[in-house]
Amino acid sequence: MLDSQPRASYPRIMTVQPNDSILIVDFGSQVTQLIARRVREAGVYSEIAPFNAAEAAFERMKPKGIILSGGPASVTTDGSPRVPQHFFEAGVPILGICYGQQVMCEQLGGKVVGGQGEGEFGRAFVEVSNRSALFDGLWKEGDRHQVWMSHGDKVAELPAGFAPVAVSEGAPFAVTSDEKRRFYGVQFHPEVVHTPDGAKLIANFARHVCGLAGDWSMAEFRATKIAEIRAQVGKGKVICGLSGGVDSAVAAVLIHEAIGEQLTCVFVDHGLLRQGEADQVVGLFREHYGIPLVHVNAETLFLSGLKGVTDPEAKRKFIGKTFIDVFDSEARKIGGAEFLAQGTLYPDVIESVSFTGGPSVTIKSHHNVGGLPERMNMKLVEPLRELFKDEVRALGRELGLPEIFVGRHPFPGPGLAIRIPGEVTKERCDILRKADAVYLDEIRNAGLYDAIWQAFAVLLPVRSVGVMGDGRTYDSVLALRAVTSTDGMTADVFHFDPAFLSRVATRIVNEVQGVNRVTYDFTSKPPGTIEWE
Ligand code: XMP
Repeated sequence: MLDSQPRASYPRIMTVQPNDSILIVDFGSQVTQLIARRVREAGVYSEIAPFNAAEAAFERMKPKGIILSGGPASVTTDGSPRVPQHFFEAGVPILGICYGQQVMCEQLGGKVVGGQGEGEFGRAFVEVSNRSALFDGLWKEGDRHQVWMSHGDKVAELPAGFAPVAVSEGAPFAVTSDEKRRFYGVQFHPEVVHTPDGAKLIANFARHVCGLAGDWSMAEFRATKIAEIRAQVGKGKVICGLSGGVDSAVAAVLIHEAIGEQLTCVFVDHGLLRQGEADQVVGLFREHYGIPLVHVNAETLFLSGLKGVTDPEAKRKFIGKTFIDVFDSEARKIGGAEFLAQGTLYPDVIESVSFTGGPSVTIKSHHNVGGLPERMNMKLVEPLRELFKDEVRALGRELGLPEIFVGRHPFPGPGLAIRIPGEVTKERCDILRKADAVYLDEIRNAGLYDAIWQAFAVLLPVRSVGVMGDGRTYDSVLALRAVTSTDGMTADVFHFDPAFLSRVATRIVNEVQGVNRVTYDFTSKPPGTIEWE
């Protein structure tokens, strides 16, 4: 199951159209995105479509294989989602995962029963009982392999043509197949890392079963995208907002490669960036790439507007709105641009629509240039819409962007404002910038930067008493945070060597005036969030 609410409809995303692709039909599993990643890691282009838009995606993509995801529903419930029946007659190999296996079996004449509380959750073992093309070169008869299960329902009767090829304690049909029609069903989740051979099984399906070459690469993506940007933009002008982060930087460099001087970048510097970041952005774009860049120094505007604001949502809303105002007015000064470029990523696209169409709980109002297209009535150029974060990094490297940009930790749009609980002032930003720079310097020196998803300091609205030399101090407390994550949706605390943390604390208290105590945040996400506000 492993699931959240399924999503109803995603905006149509693909215009690049590799000949060889796999369609992933989403039934709402939280880990559907991982299936897409595993397929792409096997060098095969894949796209996710929600079950109720799968038909259109099938027509458009003409996929060479289909994967049916897991999902929270029960096949035994009336009105639960189904696969378009003609997919089973298209002569295309199909892999059903968990709910995907159950729904396939049910639609082909088998039987699924409710788990009555006896499902399998977590680590389990399957024993291979028969040969299957899915296992070729990987698993042999008699082998026992660890997998990750999460299901209540299970297949009780197989459809005609199907046979079990692996069993587990809780599921006699842990893996089933119809080798003739090339249909495969797995009750476990091969897409998660807790199934050690899962990625290989998915690769086997994509390349061996579906017969795909596995030659989808960033170089190919780059060439296709450049052609596509040229076709979309023609002789038009494009403006692109740079944030200092990797996504907008990669989008801008790619677009510049496609259309050269037709692109102008606008960098709204809200004064809430880290130490040295504004200079890096200006240096790279204006000097290194020669990309026309408007650098707006709006620090005073942002800081004066943040005066007295302490509520996290009020900060976010003010920064988001002011950002749009400034960007809009600068863009109008440039004049004549019909297109707005954004570094939107695939997870933003597929998470932004909820299954019910209803509102989901807003934990934080994310700041991005989301409101701009409507306000400015511009057409969007979003060349990274199909990519995951690590793929954007790979594309950045392919484009020759310096590692300092490509490998940079994510940084939130509202910047340091949400790392200074309480009122944000220039003085507090400066203190935080200095402390944060010391922390990151130590992390880089220790060779840990790339092992961490995000590391940063938070300046707390708390003062503590200390002693330095012979004197009493009464200064701010700083919290350090470092997390590991694959997508920012969940995160684990990064465990430093205590000696490392002591060294950082000592340096910060000695070098940064205004901080006399340093703490470390041990909260994972959930229940915490990565940022403090
Ligand atoms: P949270 O704090 O929600 O953050 O766990 C998850 C990830 O999102 C980043 N983040 C933002 N990114 N605009 C952004 O572009 C925002 O408003 C924003 N708020 C949080 C955060 O740094 C982490 O990587």
